[in-house]
Amino acid sequence: MIVRWPKQVQIKEVGPRDGLQNETTWVETDDKVAWINMLSESGIKEIEYSSFVHPRWIPALKDAREVGRRINRNPDVTYSALVPNEVGLEHALEAGIDMASVFMSASETHNRNNINKSITATYPVIGNVVKTAKAENKRVTGYVSTVFDCPFEGKVDIDAVLRVCDRLFDLGIDDLSLGDTIGTAVPSEVEALLEAVTHRYPNKSIIMHFHDTRGMAIANIMTAMNYGITRFDSSLGGLGGCPYAPGAAGNVATNDLLYLLQGLDVATGVDDHIIQDASSFIQAKLNKQLPSRSFNYLESQLNQANDHVQAAGAEMPNHSFELVPQRKREIIYVFLKNQLKNQYDKFRSKE
Ligand code: HMG
Ligand code: MG
Repeated sequence: MIVRWPKQVQIKEVGPRDGLQNETTWVETDDKVAWINMLSESGIKEIEYSSFVHPRWIPALKDAREVGRRINRNPDVTYSALVPNEVGLEHALEAGIDMASVFMSASETHNRNNINKSITATYPVIGNVVKTAKAENKRVTGYVSTVFDCPFEGKVDIDAVLRVCDRLFDLGIDDLSLGDTIGTAVPSEVEALLEAVTHRYPNKSIIMHFHDTRGMAIANIMTAMNYGITRFDSSLGGLGGCPYAPGAAGNVATNDLLYLLQGLDVATGVDDHIIQDASSFIQAKLNKQLPSRSFNYLESQLNQANDHVQAAGAEMPNHSFELVPQRKREIIYVFLKNQLKNQYDKFRSKE
């Protein structure tokens, strides 16, 4: 394996869409707006903020229009949303999008289960969305789901994936996002697919979208970077899943991806302090533990540190992360412990 990491990677945060679409706990519109506003200040350059699908199919995102109308728009951020058809596009344009994400699957059965149409019948629908979006000067990303395995049909042929990608490029999509919808791929499969895709579309913008069902997403991202891929979707804390793909767990966690990229010295421009805070925020709203290991590790260290401070009768230092020159979480914790020790010593000296 050639180990050559890119200088820079662009992360698209899909937590507000993929992350929430499968959740049964209702997140209030006010909370969604506050959460997306936090993400808008994190340095992330693209946020998929909701989904303009039928509310009966995805009730968790039935407030997409209100969310779109109410979020603060950071001019440095591209705001996209999932759009299945022209009805969805009309709603999305009213609510405000910079980019539309159309979607379909490489496998027939998942396509029918997810959007109630055959693959063949989906093309004209997407064609119309792309045409109207372009007339409104919006970029369009085309998601292809089940590019490795389908939850209903099993292994999906690379040729079947390429057939769908060819058609989507013909219809005019700008970016292609390849989805490991149920998180089954291993690096050798990523290699095989990207070998074919990068040869066929050498000058196209390719994004990888990995779900982390079996913990392979980080290994798969490292493989994809070796094929020159520098754009990845991820979700805060590892939230996510497709309700119409049984067995699909969350996306790769933004927190874990950032930890990897920082360690490899790959620039992202993302502030992991804000990512940690935003993850804690949504964890509290969903009232369940997020799966991201990096998030949970740091959270437990912070809780322990907080306990030390509480025990010493002092207050947790604010913004301690901003003072940290190093990037590794372990170093942050050592730093935090030292900070707290100083406070503790100061407190004792006043006694
Ligand atoms: P349908 O029932 O076939 O729709 O659903 P229809 O075109 O026959 O219309 C039926 C009624 O729905 C009509 O209303 C339409 O106006 C209305 P009526 O005349 O009966 O009053 N309608 C809509 N209403 C609101 N918004 C709309 C809309 N469209 C039609 N957009 C449809 C077809 C595509 C709408 C439905 O199947 C659907 O909403 N599916 C969404 C499923 C979904 O969101 N899945 C998860 C996202 S994909 C994913 O997670 C994978 C990804 O992350 C990548 C990866 O991981 O691989 C992207
Ligand atoms: Mg997905």
